[in-house]
Amino acid sequence: MNHSQPLSGKTALVTGASRGLGRAIALALGQAGANVVVTDLLVEDDQPDKEKLSEYSILAAHFYENSMVRTLSTSRDIENMGVGSMALKMDVTDEDNIRNVVAQVEDTLGGVDILVNNAAVMDGLGLMENQSLKTWERDLRVNLTGTFLCTHAVWAGMKRNKWGRIINMSSFTAESGAFAQPGYAASKAGMLGLTRTLALEGAAHGMTVNAVMPGFIATEAIDLYSPDMKERICKRNPMKRMGTPDEVASLVCFLASKEASYLNGAAIPVTGGMDLLVF
Ligand SMILES: NC(=O)c1ccc[n+]([C@@H]2O[C@H](COP(=O)([O-])OP(=O)(O)OC[C@H]3O[C@@H](n4cnc5c(N)ncnc54)[C@H](O)[C@@H]3O)[C@@H](O)[C@H]2O)c1
Repeated sequence: MNHSQPLSGKTALVTGASRGLGRAIALALGQAGANVVVTDLLVEDDQPDKEKLSEYSILAAHFYENSMVRTLSTSRDIENMGVGSMALKMDVTDEDNIRNVVAQVEDTLGGVDILVNNAAVMDGLGLMENQSLKTWERDLRVNLTGTFLCTHAVWAGMKRNKWGRIINMSSFTAESGAFAQPGYAASKAGMLGLTRTLALEGAAHGMTVNAVMPGFIATEAIDLYSPDMKERICKRNPMKRMGTPDEVASLVCFLASKEASYLNGAAIPVTGGMDLLVF
């Protein structure tokens, strides 16, 4: 085994990888030697219907309008590392789209060995009386049903290969709750139930399924918080800072590796100890 490239020969697919944690994870998997399929709802050369986009996700519209979409460029960066890469538009709520992407990956790179369910919406903010069924259903559809659909599309292939790694990007809010984000917190808690259920089923077929629960990680999306909010977040963390995307990506790479073969059904916090009692 090449120790500097432990994932050599494997193909990974990352959802929601146009920025933030997904992008950092895609780059880290490429560094570890995997071929990486970089997917997102947003791709630089695709022109989404702007009205539909802002109705769908305020954050998506913001990043698209500010030219902060890096799906193609991330894939190019990964290719420059000397491994295979593809950049594909994939909406995790669209089953046909997902199945087409997985078929393209099978034809080009020989199937998905590692799936990172990272895509999410997290802008459904509002007190309960201001929440709508539409936002609640959107949060569950993207974050939870999206995880189910992507997993479903790669499951049979992993079972056939008798090897697979599925890593679900949950959140510390799955356990702590998230003030004014009921759909988000419920979807992230739902991901833990799904993770544990699939871990039970996949174990007989050489597959592991684990969840990661990040605390506050300094991504472009979190950077949109007010300075006061960011200061309060850092103050209540024993490390007095947010995490970096690389600090989550390194855990994902480990979970994807052969070395993590006995880690299954776990939900691992990466919070800097934020969940501990801090005075
Ligand atoms: N950043 C944090 O502090 C933090 C904390 C806990 C959990 N997380 C989780 O980590 C993941 C990434 O967080 P981030 O901060 O990078 O968020 P982000 O909003 O920057 O990234 C989410 C990505 O998902 C994509 N996406 C949204 N809807 C999609 C859809 N229907 N189909 C495909 N792609 C879609 C977006 O375009 C974006 O690229 C999310 O699952 C989030 O819940 C983040």
